[in-house]
Amino acid sequence: MKIEEEARDIAEFYSFLRIETPLLEAAELYERGIGEETDVVQKEMYTLRTKGSGKLALRPEYTAAIMRSYLQHGMHRLPQPQRLYSFGPVFRHDRPQAGRYRQFYQFNLEILGGDSDAIYDAQVIIAFYKLIEELKVKPLIIQINSIGCRICRPNYRKKLVEYYRDEEICRDCERRLKVNPIRLLDCKKEVCQTAKAGVPNIFDSLCSLCRGHLKQVLEYLEEANLPYVLNHLLARGLDYYSRTVFEIFLEEAIPAGRQGNLALAGGGRYDYLAEVLGGRPTPAVGGALGVQRLIEILQTSGTAIPLRTSKPKVFLVHIGNDAKKKSLSLMEELRRANISTSNALGKDSLSAQLEAANKMGVPLALILGQREVYEGSVIIRDMENGVQEPIPMRNMVEEIKKRLRG
Ligand code: HAM
Repeated sequence: MKIEEEARDIAEFYSFLRIETPLLEAAELYERGIGEETDVVQKEMYTLRTKGSGKLALRPEYTAAIMRSYLQHGMHRLPQPQRLYSFGPVFRHDRPQAGRYRQFYQFNLEILGGDSDAIYDAQVIIAFYKLIEELKVKPLIIQINSIGCRICRPNYRKKLVEYYRDEEICRDCERRLKVNPIRLLDCKKEVCQTAKAGVPNIFDSLCSLCRGHLKQVLEYLEEANLPYVLNHLLARGLDYYSRTVFEIFLEEAIPAGRQGNLALAGGGRYDYLAEVLGGRPTPAVGGALGVQRLIEILQTSGTAIPLRTSKPKVFLVHIGNDAKKKSLSLMEELRRANISTSNALGKDSLSAQLEAANKMGVPLALILGQREVYEGSVIIRDMENGVQEPIPMRNMVEEIKKRLRG
């Protein structure tokens, strides 16, 4: 899958190592980590009871599980920060529609440990941006905000509660107002849109450290030449965030309501999640990209995803059963030597195999018959001029490399 390959390349370029987390984990991990009152936990998480009465959840996202893993496996003892990426399915009981799936893939990046240096926030954003850009999806816009820290957020919460006291809001927001008023900022319900018109701007409540942190992130984005807008209403739907939150959108929404204003990727800093999960304080930042949303955009805009196949250089032809069997170890030798090789082990006729080699446009074919197996040799055929020559099997790799170079 092209997107997966590109994602892996980007992750590796920025020194992220792959981590896999279980598809099923204790539901409590997500309830505590993402927040009891969030839509993901309240409405979208698939849970099941096990025979032993435990409650498990199908992974609705990666972050909480990755932090659990970081703490559980003592990753703080490794060089800090740890940069981890994942690419795999997550599950949310959403109403199925364009851009919203019940099973979808996330490409997830997390930088855990070390300090809260703004460069890490910028790096995560840059990595997602570059991946989407690499796939020719443009123009993009980054929306960014800071939702403060333990010091300045209580102040802002107070202002919000005061403000919303006289506003008409939806039922969910009435509940959120008691638990996490910041989440009211990004409620999409119509009634709450009107209420948002005069909402206090969070920038005015940020402490000097949070302000400085946001300024630094923005400076780094500017240095990387990435377009962003500050959106003081961006709060994100998960409770674990502090300071930076961001989302990446297609600048012009695709016509006919497809995609609309759905984010392609989103994330932020979550410096307190480790403590919520019972661990030592661990600054962290990350994000996730919705792979299906990206595919939908590529399909709607008619952008072809170029297949990145490394064309085989050698085609291995076998004649007879002993040769067929021997092909397996020769293939292995070629793989170890990093020579991309193809074959048609299911086809036994010589002409069908040579035809396949021709169609593939390989420069060289290796022909292995009963006699060659017996003698420990192999015939090397130049596919352009048809000239064939037997060579000892032990010289095979060397000879192929020589010919490919020449
Ligand atoms: P999220 O915003 O819930 O964040 O999801 C990230 C991305 O997943 C979204 O921007 C969107 O592209 C995609 N997505 C979400 N729901 C759906 C759906 N139902 N169907 C298709 N795509 C969807 C998180 O999950 C955080 N864990 C990100 C993060 C990592 N924050 C810090 N580290």
